[in-house]
Amino acid sequence: MDGYDIAVTTAFGNETVTKSELKKLGFPDAKAFNGTFTLKGTALDVARLNMFLHTAERVFLQIGSFPCPDFDALYDGVKALPWENYLSEDSRIVVNGKTVKSKLLSLSDCQKIIKKAIIDRLKKTLRTSVFAENGAISKVEFALREDEATVYIDTSGAGLHKRGYRNLVGEAPLKETLACGLLLLSDFSADKPLVDPFCGSGTIITEAARMALGIAPGKGRSFHYADWKKFDKTVFNTVLEEAADNEKLRKLDFAGYDADPAAIKLSLRHAKQAGVSDYVHFQVRNVSEFSSAKKYGCIVTNPPYGERLLSAREVEKLYKIFGDVCKKIPDWSINVITSFPQFEKYFGRKCDKNRKFFNAGKECRYYSFVPKK
Ligand SMILES: C[S@@+](CC[C@H](N)C(=O)[O-])C[C@H]1O[C@@H](n2cnc3c(N)ncnc32)[C@H](O)[C@@H]1O
Repeated sequence: MDGYDIAVTTAFGNETVTKSELKKLGFPDAKAFNGTFTLKGTALDVARLNMFLHTAERVFLQIGSFPCPDFDALYDGVKALPWENYLSEDSRIVVNGKTVKSKLLSLSDCQKIIKKAIIDRLKKTLRTSVFAENGAISKVEFALREDEATVYIDTSGAGLHKRGYRNLVGEAPLKETLACGLLLLSDFSADKPLVDPFCGSGTIITEAARMALGIAPGKGRSFHYADWKKFDKTVFNTVLEEAADNEKLRKLDFAGYDADPAAIKLSLRHAKQAGVSDYVHFQVRNVSEFSSAKKYGCIVTNPPYGERLLSAREVEKLYKIFGDVCKKIPDWSINVITSFPQFEKYFGRKCDKNRKFFNAGKECRYYSFVPKK
């Protein structure tokens, strides 16, 4: 089957960058609603979106929408959809979802009803009563909004932030999708110095290096669609080839520093696993010791917020030190994400732009300071 309705989800704050990524991938007219972009595409498009989007969370096939005022309507609406085009007799069907202002509040009842309706449909259309559920996983997602139901199948599997290279987690790491959003909103480029002075497990620098070297974000991981019997599996290899063609090895001037030796150890490990260790530099260094004689560089960073890692008093001091360090590199752009409300006061400068994000459920601001003229 071809000509899919595709839904691409992205996190709050990342919509603008996901939109421009979609445009670059050939979808200038993708429509956004509540962090979900809808578009039409082929199996190859599904594979390309999964492989090449840096900032999206997941790629779904949208199976259908219907009015859903009660459980009977849920059963009938789901059963009326052509599940046999997507699922086979051995599919392991897992149902999850959310209800927003719907009368159908019980998620577990919705899950059971949806799964029963799908199986009843498949029994009839595939002419079998045996569903061993020992094949590939198909995650069915539903969204009940007021009196409307929409059902999807998740083509990604693990969230797209899971690039496949990070198997140990440092303290308060950024999601890779968020790190890419921050980078794409900054003026970072392969041609100028990039520094993260609070690099933790190295997410920002590692993701930046992968972008600058043209390494596809989905390289090295698997996707659910590639295991489905009813989906064109050849597209996975096609996009792997495209991804290999896009890689362009070059020298980079990207560095991450952290006061904690354990964080630097983790950064080095992740960079190696991500295939960029020969292109980036990580070193134990307190931010108070940072200086650079280089011109026109870029800082993108996620310092402690004064919650989990340091007390409010300590971050006030730390932001002041960071601000003083940045005063010595006036031609650099500085980009900082933090939930600390008075960041600018202690950093000692009013930002040129700030954008709202959520990091680990916490409301944050991403402050951008353009170089001083
Ligand atoms: C929020 S974490 C950064 C997480 C990182 N973005 C990641 O994805 O893993 C903040 C980091 O700042 C580091 N840090 C705290 N005080 C510091 C200082 N004075 N100089 C340099 N690094 C410091 C901590 O060790 C911690 O790793």
